[in-house]
Amino acid sequence: MKKRPKAQGAALVTGGAKRIGKAICLSLSSMGYKIALHYHKSGTEAKRVAKTIWQKGGICELFSCDLSDEHQTIALIPSVLKKFSRLNVLINNASIFEPTTIKSSELISLDRHFAVNFKAPYVLTAQFARKCQKGHIINILDTHIVDNKTSHANYLLSKKALGELTKLSAVELGPYIRVNGVSPGLIFPPAQARTGYLEKRAKNIPLKKKGDVNQITRSIEFLLNNPYLTGQIIFNDGGEHLM
Ligand SMILES: NC(=O)c1ccc[n+]([C@@H]2O[C@H](COP(=O)([O-])OP(=O)(O)OC[C@H]3O[C@@H](n4cnc5c(N)ncnc54)[C@H](OP(=O)(O)O)[C@@H]3O)[C@@H](O)[C@H]2O)c1
Repeated sequence: MKKRPKAQGAALVTGGAKRIGKAICLSLSSMGYKIALHYHKSGTEAKRVAKTIWQKGGICELFSCDLSDEHQTIALIPSVLKKFSRLNVLINNASIFEPTTIKSSELISLDRHFAVNFKAPYVLTAQFARKCQKGHIINILDTHIVDNKTSHANYLLSKKALGELTKLSAVELGPYIRVNGVSPGLIFPPAQARTGYLEKRAKNIPLKKKGDVNQITRSIEFLLNNPYLTGQIIFNDGGEHLM
């Protein structure tokens, strides 16, 4: 078995069972973090990721919670701390992404997007600040937080708010807690997308190609390893945010 890196503390990754969250869990584990993998509905996939981590000599515990439920969200960090007393990284990755326009949207959709994509990261940030007191928070945002072109209005509004929380909390929580963001672009297609969806959209961005999930994990590693960075947002998007 490959030699394990130096122990780094523990990282809570929300929505860690699949796609970008899964890649973040595997990458942080290979950096030496113990992983608190949060999931909601994807229990089978979460167990699979945990098994992979244990097989590679890492440590991973699973935590189930519906982030749209404020009481469950408030209980998440205390239950992680019972397993990992040195929790020093929080990655707010879980999100919902549903098509909506302001004109056609029901208020319940706005509430749902804000509950999972903004309020849960806010609650977890506050809990992390109170109970862990030092470490690093990284919010996973979206390339579109700087523009207003979208067919997912409620999603985008919630991510814009999370972008502002990233900067506001970086100011309030320094010097012991750093808060940064990563804004992905064309990484994974949405669930119902047609074949070739990302490739077609990539034709309109500066670097003319879709991204890779490893580029997201490399940005997270870069942020974690640079102790003078806080309030930064890295756009991992082939230049899409400039369009
Ligand atoms: N995919 C991209 O190319 C892209 C582009 C721009 C931005 N992003 C951002 O990058 C992050 C990851 O993207 P992704 O596409 O990998 O995400 P995703 O697959 O759409 O969702 C990630 C996880 O969020 C969790 N989640 C949803 N509702 C929840 C709830 N009520 N309670 C708890 N967890 C809940 C789900 O966990 P369970 O499956 O366990 O229920 C899901 O696996 C997101 O923040 C997204 O906005 C992604």
